[in-house]
Amino acid sequence: MFRVAIICMSDKGFKGEREDISTKVIEEIVVNNGYEVVKKIIIPDEYNEITENLKEICDKNIADLILTTGGTGFAKRDITPEATEEVIEKKVPGISEAIRNYSMGITKRAMLSRAVSGIRKESLIINLPGSPKAVRESLEYIITELHHGLEILTGKAFDCARK
Ligand code: MTE
Repeated sequence: MFRVAIICMSDKGFKGEREDISTKVIEEIVVNNGYEVVKKIIIPDEYNEITENLKEICDKNIADLILTTGGTGFAKRDITPEATEEVIEKKVPGISEAIRNYSMGITKRAMLSRAVSGIRKESLIINLPGSPKAVRESLEYIITELHHGLEILTGKAFDCARK
């Protein structure tokens, strides 16, 4: 069973001014797909706070998959992609491209998400947009293929022989 950490980046959520529904949506989807949620945090849109939390989860091997929600748009305080790029050692552009590509069929505003994905040590980090609707659409689309990627990343599978 792969372990998931969920990080919500939201100034309003952190201050308790907005209910964090996106984390609940992520939790529901990952649990339904056989993952274990090991950590859930809400942090403000602060660069250092984001990089420190991401680094800690990866470097202490707390989770195999880190799903972030929020902070991927054009608002002044949106810095999730930049903070994620700072900590990743390998880029995984295909996941974010796939999310945007699929999402563009739902709303052309999907082009406004600057989300990125990447690997640090044995953890995969994926940025998801902030709204519960966008989170559900994005995560439900990619979730089935993540399992294979995580098997390879964590050394539980060694080749990509097709079923
Ligand atoms: N992706 C999907 N699948 N569905 C959506 O409704 N909303 C978009 C985009 N991606 C959306 C989506 C909008 S309106 C914005 S502004 C960006 O995600 C960035 O969202 P964020 O700033 O909350 O991270």
